[in-house]
Amino acid sequence: MIRPSKLVIRRPSIAVASLLLVVSLGATAQAPGPTAAAGNAARGKVAYFRVGCYQCHGGEGQGSPYSSAPRLGPAALPIAAFTLFTRTPRLQMPPYSPEILSDADLADIYAYVTSRAAPVALDRLPN
Ligand code: HEC
Repeated sequence: MIRPSKLVIRRPSIAVASLLLVVSLGATAQAPGPTAAAGNAARGKVAYFRVGCYQCHGGEGQGSPYSSAPRLGPAALPIAAFTLFTRTPRLQMPPYSPEILSDADLADIYAYVTSRAAPVALDRLPN
């Protein structure tokens, strides 16, 4: 038989867990990935090659040790930081102003790089 004292402890914990679940689901629903919905990966691929991102970051956005350009996806910076960096890079990367690369094109590029495959873990590479 369950003693009343146990019920008192258990019920609030279930209520708290349910509340947390509802809150986290709500947060997810209210804040959809800004990019996946906004950008178009197919158009982004065209823009990515047209303006030359591929020359340093590689065709898949995988990065390159030769240009020292980092991997761009699929786990990218948040789109606001991605956009800010592309407009005002800090070191070797050339800046891309809105005149040569619109915000819409940049959102498409973001969709493209974030849709690329994740790298294979080293221990899963074929010998
Ligand atoms: C001439 C080579 C070159 C080209 C072209 C280039 N990049 Fe870069 N990019 C770099 C390098 C090198 C870095 C590392 C930071 C630096 O040196 O400025 C970088 C860094 C970045 C970062 C920061 C990534 C991070 O996680 O820190 C983003 C975002 C980025 N590039 C996006 C782009 C996009 C989008 C394009 C095309 C519109 C582009 N880059 C074109 C060389 C390049």
